[in-house]
Amino acid sequence: MELCLENLTKRYGNFTALREVNLRFTPGIYGLLGPNGAGKSTMMKLITDTLLPDEGRILYCGEDIRRLKETYRETLGYMPQQQGMYESFTAGRFLTYMAALKGIEKKEIKGEVERVLKLVNLEQSAGKKLGGFSGGMKQRVLIAQAILGNPKILILDEPTAGLDPKERIRIRNLISKIAMEKIVLIATHVVSDIEFIAKEIVMLKKGEILGMESPGQWLKRLNGKVYEVVVEESGLETFQKHHLVSNIRKDEQENIRVRIIANEEPEGKWELAGANLEDLYLTIFEEEGSRYV
Ligand SMILES: Nc1ncnc2c1ncn2[C@@H]1O[C@H](COP(=O)(O)OP(=O)(O)OP(=O)(O)O)[C@@H](O)[C@H]1O
Ligand SMILES: [Mg+2]
Repeated sequence: MELCLENLTKRYGNFTALREVNLRFTPGIYGLLGPNGAGKSTMMKLITDTLLPDEGRILYCGEDIRRLKETYRETLGYMPQQQGMYESFTAGRFLTYMAALKGIEKKEIKGEVERVLKLVNLEQSAGKKLGGFSGGMKQRVLIAQAILGNPKILILDEPTAGLDPKERIRIRNLISKIAMEKIVLIATHVVSDIEFIAKEIVMLKKGEILGMESPGQWLKRLNGKVYEVVVEESGLETFQKHHLVSNIRKDEQENIRVRIIANEEPEGKWELAGANLEDLYLTIFEEEGSRYV
């Protein structure tokens, strides 16, 4: 199974939101990382056939999705970034309604709704109204909706937006659990959502793909460039002005330790630190970061 984006370009008026995107996905989890406005949702809308590209095409197992139409849409599960919910519906009723919209056979709907409710751990709340759900519960209902019918391709646009760390971890674990033998694409600007579950990470900046590599490959670019430097409080402001700072903390001895990305050894007392994806994110998406990769 594969999904190929070929030369995809999308414009809104004369603004190009996505430029000549070429990517190939096979089963596994992919993270789509980029700041606000990078074009993540636009890319997902193209993949889910909710928007038409101005140029290029999308192939599912070698066939143009424009030609496959319904057959393609039936293989898709999509959780859009913004989605209205019927607050007066119960979770069970909402999912039943969505299952019918998706064309799942009438006699299978009940069992399917039960299956997805169980997967997202909401079987106890099936009879409760969505209006009374917490943000995390709503998010889980929306994921449940996306996995109705066990789609082969799962597109999740910011599935953890607005959630607390505990809920975020829950959703992350849920995604890795349901990802088997599917192509799963997760858009986020929260690095930790995908750092440990994505087989590859796509970086998107101002509508252009910067690359698609495994987290390990990406991190190699920062090898030997992340330092932790002890800085005096009085010199902190100046130090910050001259370095790309990814973190500042006080250690047990009350020393200020500043984590930086640099091409050369900094002055003073420093240690090398292992790079993480947040360092990389900063390096790639901060204006001043580009000279380090
Ligand atoms: N319907 C539209 N009409 C005009 N411009 C649009 C439209 N939709 C998106 N854009 C613009 O296209 C660019 C990409 O938007 P998109 O929603 O794809 O970004 P994103 O990466 O999903 O951002 P976010 O992290 O905020 O969700 C933005 O500059 C946005 O303002
Ligand atoms: Mg978006």
